[in-house]
Amino acid sequence: MNLLLTPRAFVRRHLLAPVLGPVLGLPSPLAGRTVLITGASSGIGEATALAVAARGATVLLVARRRPDLDRVVREVEEAGGTAYAYPCDLTDGQAVDALVETVLAEHGTVDMLVNNAGRSIRRSLEYSYDRMHDFERTMAVNYFGPVRLILGLMPAMRAQRFGHVVNVVTWGVQIKAPRFAAYIASKTALDTFARIAGRETYADNVTFTNLRLSLVRTDMISATDAYERSPAKTPEQAAALVVRALEDRPLTISTAVGNLSEVLNLAAPRLMDAIAATASRRFPDSPAARGASD
Ligand SMILES: NC(=O)c1ccc[n+]([C@@H]2O[C@H](COP(=O)([O-])OP(=O)(O)OC[C@H]3O[C@@H](n4cnc5c(N)ncnc54)[C@H](OP(=O)(O)O)[C@@H]3O)[C@@H](O)[C@H]2O)c1
Repeated sequence: MNLLLTPRAFVRRHLLAPVLGPVLGLPSPLAGRTVLITGASSGIGEATALAVAARGATVLLVARRRPDLDRVVREVEEAGGTAYAYPCDLTDGQAVDALVETVLAEHGTVDMLVNNAGRSIRRSLEYSYDRMHDFERTMAVNYFGPVRLILGLMPAMRAQRFGHVVNVVTWGVQIKAPRFAAYIASKTALDTFARIAGRETYADNVTFTNLRLSLVRTDMISATDAYERSPAKTPEQAAALVVRALEDRPLTISTAVGNLSEVLNLAAPRLMDAIAATASRRFPDSPAARGASD
């Protein structure tokens, strides 16, 4: 039981809004909110921008590719919504600081933030010995960029005593799949940051959700042959989960496979090592991962 909220505030936040709102046909809690979505130039971020704007929020779209952001702004506007494009490389600290300053000046507080921009790398350790930059660049975009953005937007959220942050992470944080050390470690860092930060901001009504997604059919997985025949969500299905995270503000949204893996990784870690080592031999590194020079 939360001791920092009055019983009335607790019931309103955790029971009435998420449970009764949809049943009674109340407007989405996103209506009238300002929501900043990173990685909005394609894939899950683009689908999320459309879904969130359709619920009446103003969406602020961040990514590097300006033409694609402009295209998404047009799609949102054609559907009757409101969107603004803010091109920014999240690995550039000064650019992120400037982004924060600009959006706060132009929109006041950002009510909700979706840290969706990201980069995945699937490469075995044996092909990574001279590739420290893989570990640095996944941390740069998947961890340091989002943390910098959170730090910049947090004071205004806390001051208005409302805010929510959704981190689009991966079921890999629970599964710990071989060949994904760089990617999953960076996503796990963000997942853990949010769990701890959320404890500090909870009394200010600022909350976090870690959305631990399974495979989604986007550009990100198209380079990996092993995923061609794997079941995968559409970007729209993933966006529906982001909307749920924004509306209901749960701590995590996970898959059954992710949850089961987490339990087994705790209960029988060596057995899980053996299973993962054996299973992963069936899906070797792609030729690009074995020989890439970028
Ligand atoms: N697809 C999956 O199976 C899957 C599964 C679990 C989690 N996820 C996560 O879902 C998120 C979205 O990925 P996606 O599948 O939709 O792939 P995607 O279509 O490749 O989208 C990645 C987005 O991140 C942006 N981005 C990358 N580097 C950036 C940077 N330095 N600064 C600003 N923006 C940057 C890209 O935009 P620009 O290139 O224009 O900058 C793009 O909009 C990622 O965080 C990913 O890790 C994906």
